[in-house]
Amino acid sequence: MEYRRSTLPTSVKEPESKFTFRVPNRRARAVTAPAPASAPAHPALALHGAFSSAEPAPPGALASAEPAPDELTGMVDVVGVTQVTHDVKTFELRAGWMESVDFEPGQYVTVRVPELGLERCYSISSAPFGTNTFTITVKRVSGGAVSNHLHDAVGVGGSLHVDGPYGLFSTSFHPAATHLFISGGSGITPMMSMVRALLADPGQHPTDIVFVHNAATPDDIIFRAELDQLAEVPGIRVVTMCSRDSVTEVWAGRRGRISADVLAEAVPGLGDREVFVCGPAGYRESVRDALARLGVDDRRVHEESFVFAMKPADRLARAEARAREFAERDGAARQDSTGPGWGECTPLARFGIEFRSTGTRIDCDPGTTVLDAAVRAGLTVPSSCAEGMCGTCKSVLVSGEVEMRHNGGIRPKEIAAGKFLPCCSTPKSDLVVE
Ligand SMILES: Cc1cc2nc3c(=O)[nH]c(=O)nc-3n(C[C@H](O)[C@H](O)[C@H](O)COP(=O)(O)OP(=O)(O)OC[C@H]3O[C@@H](n4cnc5c(N)ncnc54)[C@H](O)[C@@H]3O)c2cc1C
Ligand code: FES
Repeated sequence: MEYRRSTLPTSVKEPESKFTFRVPNRRARAVTAPAPASAPAHPALALHGAFSSAEPAPPGALASAEPAPDELTGMVDVVGVTQVTHDVKTFELRAGWMESVDFEPGQYVTVRVPELGLERCYSISSAPFGTNTFTITVKRVSGGAVSNHLHDAVGVGGSLHVDGPYGLFSTSFHPAATHLFISGGSGITPMMSMVRALLADPGQHPTDIVFVHNAATPDDIIFRAELDQLAEVPGIRVVTMCSRDSVTEVWAGRRGRISADVLAEAVPGLGDREVFVCGPAGYRESVRDALARLGVDDRRVHEESFVFAMKPADRLARAEARAREFAERDGAARQDSTGPGWGECTPLARFGIEFRSTGTRIDCDPGTTVLDAAVRAGLTVPSSCAEGMCGTCKSVLVSGEVEMRHNGGIRPKEIAAGKFLPCCSTPKSDLVVE
């Protein structure tokens, strides 16, 4: 299975250090550190630069089981369910402990289903409108555990555990005057959140949005009525395409698949737009090719995918291959260092990681993530995406320093409070993990 990737613009990706995060040793963490030299464009992007300006959490705060009043983490009530298409439902969720749910349009939450012992990410399909309700829109996946559970067993009056908001796929993180949204199938959900938010608050610019959506058949067009309404709004151009007719409807609109020709014809001022793409892997590839052919700067193109990049077994195999490679290099380094002129052998650095809750201690080389090292050692660490997106593996770093390359699965204030994501963190020193 392939996992989603949330891209950052080059301005954020480069220099490389802006995409890495050092979690300083807690003892060394200043109570009040100096503010970063230059403030990031958006608070969440503070993750990508110096982040130590926040104060550490007060003692005991990390262990608190009560939902934090300003954090979307806890049990939410299901207050509405709408059948959107034959296989898509929207769930309206209320976070009773919050006054208003604070998220950026395009972000997602991780939904935990304790009965199944599973969790999945779902984009928030509503816009942040200052209330304590929000929506997720879920497509029933054939054979899929969680989507079928949500469709069949979760209704009004029920509750779900959510954790978030997470993700960097948002117009908030890539401000622009003009936008192009391109979605395939259920990839429309984060787009709808962003379009709704832009319409509610167009900022200093007149609305200039092109929204291209691809569905298999007319029956599969998610938010069809709203897309039709959006098409009437000045400043928004909506292009809905279907690959084929449905049993009940001959599609009268544009037919076929996304291509450079379609985009060239439908999107005025293409090169100036900030582009957001979400859909299946093959779809995103076609869009990427089409945009490249049309000369669109890829720094303007942001992608979200809904599936894992790697199966857990493949991840373990990768971790083992890396460990073997490290052992070989380590062996070579030891041999070199025992030659004439060398006093002692100088093996490659390897760090110790202590997991305080179990008292387990393992070794980890600097190129292996803490999660991979733990899994290789036979430890069970909760994890899902392994790409720093879902927040499942979030742990407390009691001491030590890691380099963390995440994809929005942790909040700036959690980092400041000493939390980290083992799945995307490599050790820079010996570590103690709670
Ligand atoms: C950031 C992010 C945002 C997302 N947002 C949304 C969203 O807004 N809306 C949405 O609908 N989805 C979204 N997803 C996808 C969502 O997280 C789930 O992956 C999706 O709902 C499928 O989960 P599942 O548990 O139903 O399927 P899974 O059980 O995970 O199954 C996944 C795949 O394996 C196949 N499979 C499962 N069990 C079997 C079996 N026994 N035999 C054969 N094949 C099998 C399924 O057919 C399916 O193709 C998002 C994902 C991410 C990462
Ligand atoms: S497993 Fe998803 S963030 Fe670590």
